[in-house]
Formats: sequence, structure tokens, C-alpha cells
Amino acid sequence: MDTIRWGVIGTGRIAHTVAKDFREVAGAELAAVASRTKARADEFAAAHGLSRAYGSYRELLDDDGIDVVYVATPHPQHRDVALAAIERGKAVLVEKAFTATYEGAEQVVDAARDKGVFVMEAMWTRFQPAVQAAKEVVAWGRIGDVVGVQGDLIAHREFDPTDRLFAPELGGGALLDLGVYPVSLAQHFLGEIKEVQCQARLYPNGVDAGQSIMMRHTGDALSSLTCAFDGHGPGRFIIAGTKGWIEIEPRFHHPTRITINRTGALPRVIETKVIGRGYAHELAEVTRLVAAGAVESPTMPLTDTLEVMRVLSDCADQSGLVLREATVDLG
Ligand SMILES: NC(=O)c1ccc[n+]([C@@H]2O[C@H](COP(=O)([O-])OP(=O)(O)OC[C@H]3O[C@@H](n4cnc5c(N)ncnc54)[C@H](OP(=O)(O)O)[C@@H]3O)[C@@H](O)[C@H]2O)c1
Repeated sequence: MDTIRWGVIGTGRIAHTVAKDFREVAGAELAAVASRTKARADEFAAAHGLSRAYGSYRELLDDDGIDVVYVATPHPQHRDVALAAIERGKAVLVEKAFTATYEGAEQVVDAARDKGVFVMEAMWTRFQPAVQAAKEVVAWGRIGDVVGVQGDLIAHREFDPTDRLFAPELGGGALLDLGVYPVSLAQHFLGEIKEVQCQARLYPNGVDAGQSIMMRHTGDALSSLTCAFDGHGPGRFIIAGTKGWIEIEPRFHHPTRITINRTGALPRVIETKVIGRGYAHELAEVTRLVAAGAVESPTMPLTDTLEVMRVLSDCADQSGLVLREATVDLG
């Protein structure tokens, strides 16, 4: 397989973490970085041994030596960067949440389909071996018919209205940053979402501190999900069936094992091996699929991303949360 050459846009926290996992991925090279500031790009390139550092996003997008663009900006900046990459025929891996709004997601998906280029949401949890093991155990019927899931992602962060986690103009709030994980996983296990009901707690600046989300899926399975920044929680995710239940552990969004609890049997634990910091799995999938000329991932298809974004937008509307896409200056 020819080497697939990647470029990262944005030099923040997740870009640094994911960059380290490229060394675990056969056939992939992280070759370039782009920042709004040349000095930050230089620093990033030096830290990760990259050959090219650009002081504008446009320069990386125009680099013919880049096959895949990894978009690691705040959520409202995903849409414009992804659209610019698609226009240039480059494959794109877009950080979660895919966009700030459902309409923004539709624009990106429509553009990708029109142009016939690969686009995937970086929902790394779906690629974790423990989650894939849980999917197999469900498919084998070990816990009977699945009737619902319960999940929480309550991860305490000190409120700082200047941080993208809390800044309204940067898509701040628990819903897009944390809620996307249990909603996406519930959809992965239970399928199409028919109804959504949501309750939220807001900070004084109008972004959400936490949300409780109830969903009804096709076939009447039910999801009960919570996310929050202003508390602490175990990060549990349980798949409940008519003959038992599975827990994805220890924190479901980057798990290492599952426990299968079947009525009348001792619990069975399946341990799994996570590669790198856990991002190598999604990077390997994108690298393999782009090399093969695919335009979507069967594990994280664009229809699922759109459905998750529809739920998140619905929750935002129900809770009075105002989410907007940003206009990005590509430099
Ligand atoms: N998969 C995961 O585990 C995971 C974990 C954390 C975050 N994420 C996702 O990754 C994305 C980035 O999160 P992060 O925590 O890395 O954010 P961050 O630390 O704030 O970094 C975001 C980067 O985006 C660039 N950027 C472009 N426009 C910006 C603007 N108007 N304001 C601020 N920065 C801007 C900046 O890079 P330059 O200045 O260099 O251009 C900045 O360093 C989010 O969508 C988030 O949900 C995913």
C-alpha cells in the first residue's frame, strides 16, 4: 500500500494527542500541520517531527502532497475547513462533534457525496476493540433482544468562559463536547432514533453545563443518557437485553474491556488491547479506506453522523442553547 499522507489543521489539545498515535499506524504519515499562526505550526511540527508547517489553513489545503486532512479546530470551525478540503478533493477526518449544527453537517455530507471524496467523523469510540467486541456479543444474541442502553459522560471541568469548552462562539457546552459520545453509541447499538426528549442545565453565559437525553429508537428500544461538565461521574455505558446486559468499561468512551452479565451465569469479562492512546484505531480505518478508494466508513457512516447531529440540534432547541457555525478565514 502507498503511504497515505496526512495534514492536521489546528494545533490544540487533541491535535497534539492524536499526532502521537500516527507512529502506530502502518501506511500513514502525518506530514504537515497548519495553524493560524506560523510560530505555533513550527512548534507543533518540531514536537512531532513533521516535514511541513504552514501559517495558514489554505497553504495546507493547497498542498498536493496531502491526501487526508484531519480537522482539529473547535466545532463551529469544522464546517468551513471540511468544505474547503472537499472542494480540493482531499479526504477528511472531522473531529467530533462533526459540526455545530445539523444544517452544517448536511452541507459537508452533501459536498462529500457530490465530489465523491472520503469524509468521516472522528468518533474514535466506535473503533475501540471493546466496543467492537460488545457489538459482536450483541449480534450473537448472548444478551437476547436489546431493549435499551444507559450511558453517562460526566467529566468535571472548571468553568472558564474563555475556553472553547465553555465559550458560546466556539460551540461550548456539554452537549457537543460530551453528549455526542453517548448519543452516537446509543445509535450504534440501537439504530434509528424516532423521538428525543431533553432537559438541560445552563451556565449564566447560556452554554449547557449538563443534559439528560431520552431517546426512543426503531423497535421501541429506549436510551437514557446524561452528560455534564459540572459534576463527576463514572462514564458508564450499559446495553440491556432480555437475557442479560453488557457493560463497557472502565469509562465507555475509551474502554479496555466489557463485562457480559447473563441471567443464571457468572459474569464474563473480555479484555481488549488499545493501540497507542486509542486514536490509532480510527486513523488506521481511514488510512486503509482512503488507500482502497472508499468514500465512507461502514463503522462511522455519514448517515449515522447526520442522525446524531439531528439529535444534538434537537436537544439544543429543546434546551434553549444557541449553536452557530463560524465563518473561517483560511488565510
Ligand atoms: N476525540 C477526542 O478524544 C477529542 C478530545 C478533545 C477534543 N476533541 C475535539 O477536537 C476539537 C478541538 O478540541 P481541542 O480540545 O483540541 O480544542 P483547543 O485545544 O481549543 O484547540 C483548537 C485549535 O483550533 C484552532 N482554531 C481555529 N479557529 C479557532 C478559534 N476561533 N478559536 C480557537 N481556536 C481555533 C487553534 O489552532 P491554531 O491556532 O493553531 O489554528 C486551536 O489550537 C473539538 O471539536 C473537540 O470536540 C476530540
